[in-house]
Amino acid sequence: MELIRRHFDIIDSTNTWAKNHAHTLSRDKMTLVTAGQQTAGRGRFKRAWISPPGQNIYASFCFFVEKHTKEIGNIPQILALSNVKVLESLSFKPELKWPNDVLLSGKKVAGILAETTPLSDQLCLIIGIGLNVNMPLEILQGIDRPATSLLAETGSSHDIEKVLEMLQLQFMKDLDLFLDEGFHLFLSDYRQHMTYRKQIRFNDNRVVWEGELHAINADGSLSLKLPDGEIKTFIVGEILWPGE
Ligand code: BTN
Repeated sequence: MELIRRHFDIIDSTNTWAKNHAHTLSRDKMTLVTAGQQTAGRGRFKRAWISPPGQNIYASFCFFVEKHTKEIGNIPQILALSNVKVLESLSFKPELKWPNDVLLSGKKVAGILAETTPLSDQLCLIIGIGLNVNMPLEILQGIDRPATSLLAETGSSHDIEKVLEMLQLQFMKDLDLFLDEGFHLFLSDYRQHMTYRKQIRFNDNRVVWEGELHAINADGSLSLKLPDGEIKTFIVGEILWPGE
């Protein structure tokens, strides 16, 4: 797939812009919407995504698929894995927190917000990623959950454009493979990078469950073993942080 880049020095949110302009985007090319700063960056579960100027990657990968394309729910996990590969090539040791958070030293360095907009017979997928590159400790400490950046992990700053280019190349490659072959090719890599926390607290958006992380299933869903032995499977939700 070819790629068109659309960059804004400052914008409310790259995902919001893409959603509002989906009808203007190319149907057969990928559009990568990026910003130097977001004034209303959005995270999952209606949280804010702190997006100060010139420090981090704020990017939304936008492309069209047929409405009933199989496994589209796994695409954010594919992007999380692409991000893991890029960070590994930069000598980091990233881990995944289901479904698509990327962690370094047990703290979140990247998050993904996936949204869709239907347009006639197709769906516009908007897969937004925030990757903390040069965010300093003072700002990270103001975030209400454990957060880190490449700078905080190494003490040295990274070239944001270079990291973005690596991510873009890796994701385009992984996405093509995924669309041709499906999630099964990525599953063992995904499982290997999971943060292993036997006992977890899990919020499915309505209820907080406690149990043992039982499995990541072939479709990317998560199964929890409850104290009474029952296995419960989730396709949405999040693993809570210790103390949350
Ligand atoms: C999360 O982990 O809660 C998801 C965070 C996603 C942040 C990115 S930054 C680029 C894109 N635009 C947004 O407003 N959000 C996503």
